[in-house]
Amino acid sequence: MTVAKAETAAPCTLFLFGANGDLVKRLLMPALFNLQRDGLLDPRMRIVGVDHNPSTDREFAARLEAFMRERDQGNEGTRCFDEKRWGRLVKRIHYLTGDFLASTTYQDIAQRIGKSGIGNAIFYLATAPRFFAEVARQLGSAGLLDESNGFRRVVVEKPFGSDLASAEALNASLLNVMNEKQIYRIDHYLGKETVQNILVSRFSNGLFEAFWNNHYIDHVQITAAETVGVESRGGFYDHTGALRDMVPNHLFQLLAMVAMEPPAAFGADAVRSEKAKVIGAIRPWSKAMALKNSVRGQYTAGKQGRKKLPGYREEPRVDRHSQTETYVALKVMIDNWRWVGVPFYLRTGKRMSVRDTEIAICFKPAPYAQFRDSDAERPKPNYLKIQIQPNEGMWFDLQAKRPGPTLAMETVELGFAYKDFFKMRPSTGYETLIYDCLTGDQTLFQRADNIENGWRAVQPFLDAWQHEGEVQPYAAGDDGPAAADELLARDHRAWHPIG
Ligand code: BG6
Repeated sequence: MTVAKAETAAPCTLFLFGANGDLVKRLLMPALFNLQRDGLLDPRMRIVGVDHNPSTDREFAARLEAFMRERDQGNEGTRCFDEKRWGRLVKRIHYLTGDFLASTTYQDIAQRIGKSGIGNAIFYLATAPRFFAEVARQLGSAGLLDESNGFRRVVVEKPFGSDLASAEALNASLLNVMNEKQIYRIDHYLGKETVQNILVSRFSNGLFEAFWNNHYIDHVQITAAETVGVESRGGFYDHTGALRDMVPNHLFQLLAMVAMEPPAAFGADAVRSEKAKVIGAIRPWSKAMALKNSVRGQYTAGKQGRKKLPGYREEPRVDRHSQTETYVALKVMIDNWRWVGVPFYLRTGKRMSVRDTEIAICFKPAPYAQFRDSDAERPKPNYLKIQIQPNEGMWFDLQAKRPGPTLAMETVELGFAYKDFFKMRPSTGYETLIYDCLTGDQTLFQRADNIENGWRAVQPFLDAWQHEGEVQPYAAGDDGPAAADELLARDHRAWHPIG
């Protein structure tokens, strides 16, 4: 998130480890294409795909092109393909056949850097997570992380660890061969305009700060509902589950944006220190409290409209008796001066009724006394809804008098929809993140302590679920198990409707 004018980034070689994987073709290459469209890539920049399958520059580029063309027919929001522009990008694209575990691969990389005459290099680890530490070690042993001839940066994709211990171990391995300033830990939610906007809206409108605390806010709900199931990722997902997949990373990033203190500046250290502080202030539940404050769900066969959907256990590469959660709802408390006493309810699930990622901030209700003698119902609480996707925008629920002779109230909305104010160019969300890495801005990347604090806060749930509690069924196409409603009903609250 550059605070100055976006200018062409310095030249470098971008090595994409895991070049034949989904991420490169679905997101990284379209993002690079868009960055070139916007004139943000230096003409000398090179992109080198690295993977073990033997291939040539030409074949690699042809596969990417075929995918980009096919994608344009679809509906993924990046309709951007343009023959002429692709022609310019393709000249930069190269391929290096190499085993991630073999030292010869890294000698070849060193040779490519030497020949290019440009010392700057970025190593993007879009590989399976089991390779992260080893690739970093090999880069270090080959001297490729030495910055005397230009910058050397390493981008690490998600998942970053699978619990607190593994995340700490991965951080230690990375920091053994490079320093924190060289590490770019990705959370793609931070590439979303609507997520970055939370910071800007909160801290550029004096109005918000006045009521952004436990005097006026009753509770906060963070929802990431998806309609997709586990698709072809059953093998990965069955060992991961909704908690690990979405909470310590994406949902905690949203929570941090809402709950953090104002940073002293929009710089990487100031922003990330505030985030680390607020995530670190999440109350560590005891085992009993973690069980009480969490609900796990798993989708069974159901329907979306007329379409019949299989249950999770019928999905490919999923254990027929799996206890993995595809839905999770949690209550967390932040023990600091601003938020003490304000519950944050988080929920995320696959195969829900609609796609909806939103933050609903519920304000304390107005007193009823003045309406007591009228027929009016108790005033409903005001909600500020920050809609991350789709229908990006912000809406505020207000109570207004319904026209007529009697005193009656109705909820109305003040709203701002992105599409009404801004012309949004097609993008994947990775453009900003790649550009920031090219220009050395770490604001939107996770620092080691951000990651570890996130895992520290979810670890009590992982521990508690190991031997106790069960996944609750919900039908595909529904909004999660009944127990999730009870989690809030117990506190005399209810989920804000999805969609
Ligand atoms: C990924 C998860 O990190 O985020 C997926 O692994 C999930 O399971 C995805 O579907 C959601 O991202 P988005 O941008 O579609 O909300």
